[in-house]
Amino acid sequence: MAKRKTKFVCQECGYETPKWMGKCPACHQWNTLVEEMSAPAANSRHVFQTSSTTAAAKPEKITQIKSQKEPRMPTDMPELNRVLGGGIVAGSLVLIGGDPGIGKSTLLLQVSAQIADKDFPVLYISGEESARQTKLRAERLSITSDELYVLSETNLQDVMNQIEQIDPKFVVIDSIQTIFKEDVTSAPGSVSQVRECTSQLMRIAKSKGIPIFIVGHVTKEGSIAGPRLLEHMVDAVLYFEGEQHNTFRILRSVKNRFGSTHEMGIFEMKEKGLEEVLNPSEIFLEERSQGAAGSIVVASMEGTRPVLVEIQALISPTAYGNPRRMATGLDNSRVPLLMAVLEKRAGLLLQNQDAYVKVAGGVKLDEPAIDLAVAISIASSFRNQSPNGDDVVVGEVGLTGEIRRVARIEQRVQEAAKLGFKRVIIPKKNMDGWTPPTQIEVIGVSTVQEAMKVTLGET
Ligand code: TYD
Ligand code: MG
Repeated sequence: MAKRKTKFVCQECGYETPKWMGKCPACHQWNTLVEEMSAPAANSRHVFQTSSTTAAAKPEKITQIKSQKEPRMPTDMPELNRVLGGGIVAGSLVLIGGDPGIGKSTLLLQVSAQIADKDFPVLYISGEESARQTKLRAERLSITSDELYVLSETNLQDVMNQIEQIDPKFVVIDSIQTIFKEDVTSAPGSVSQVRECTSQLMRIAKSKGIPIFIVGHVTKEGSIAGPRLLEHMVDAVLYFEGEQHNTFRILRSVKNRFGSTHEMGIFEMKEKGLEEVLNPSEIFLEERSQGAAGSIVVASMEGTRPVLVEIQALISPTAYGNPRRMATGLDNSRVPLLMAVLEKRAGLLLQNQDAYVKVAGGVKLDEPAIDLAVAISIASSFRNQSPNGDDVVVGEVGLTGEIRRVARIEQRVQEAAKLGFKRVIIPKKNMDGWTPPTQIEVIGVSTVQEAMKVTLGET
């Protein structure tokens, strides 16, 4: 009999070594190497030689492969469909990550019920909760679908047997960290288990054409627990995010083989489950303090959809030591950069001021088109001058203080007009080639100083 060997596997990146080390040489994390028993070599070779689940594939001529679009199954949630790129793709393996309690199980149970209501059998595998607990949740969500099967199971082999028997059209694994494969000796949730189970599920999804959604827990650092390679194995990775004290939840894709990664879906956690938010701008602006110094609205794009969000800045003199610059919901390095531009090009003495900049409503914005709004909010707070509450600002700021062109200007302006804003300040370079709506005044600016004059008036 082959001697069982132990190896040490990094729980962050999957690096393997025969000896223990304090620091992983691959990803430089400390204390991530965990001892695992490697399966006997003969066994693992056997797995590769006779694949029982997949028929051997033959190479095809590329000219003869049918180029039809992937068949998609749209869910009853337009927000989810958009994030997925238009619906659930047959045979896709999708990973959903998120903090505990954010609503992953709720979302997937709701989706499962919607699919089951269309008379497609759905198998919901819960390794974390008993079937009774899932039933309680289903009652809360008023789910009465007859074709929804619930299984509380953690053994991958049994899960596969049930998939074979029930022949579902949609499978949920909640969560991958609880599922284990018997011939892998390490504990459930370890790198080897997660990797093995995921690749097995991948084979089932691909060979049977069943879409499988798997839930993955998120580590303290915010990435999906298990090796990074888990993200490489699946077709799409979605993150379900939200603030603890906020009922809004944002579903965004960070990887999608069948669609764009810039889309986001917005939900609200209600008493009876998740509800979609179809008009995010209204929600994000609901609590806005109109006309307060340091607050301005920006028209940002989230994928293909424009959203209006309030940017807030608070500038106050530094009490002692180095000035602080803090950003919430936007790139941290943009704030000092824009402050330097304001100092040099617009003559604002900001070097001994603390700056706190925040995107209200818990959204994250990462496009340069929000630069001008950030700059205006900083200038507004510093000078203690309120901008006009009916203004929307959009534009990228260059290092010489010039305002640069942004993409999709028409949609941004239209969204601002739709929500009743009176003026929109945009890059001058964006003024040509389209017809602005009549009910909103469009002002083109070419420098930060000009934009400040329009929004805040003369000093
Ligand atoms: P859950 O889906 O269990 O989160 P996850 O699977 O990501 O860990 O969500 C649990 C939270 O959602 C819990 O705090 C209760 C709340 N919730 C509602 O507010 N309304 C509901 O209808 C449901 C089912 C849960
Ligand atoms: Mg859960």
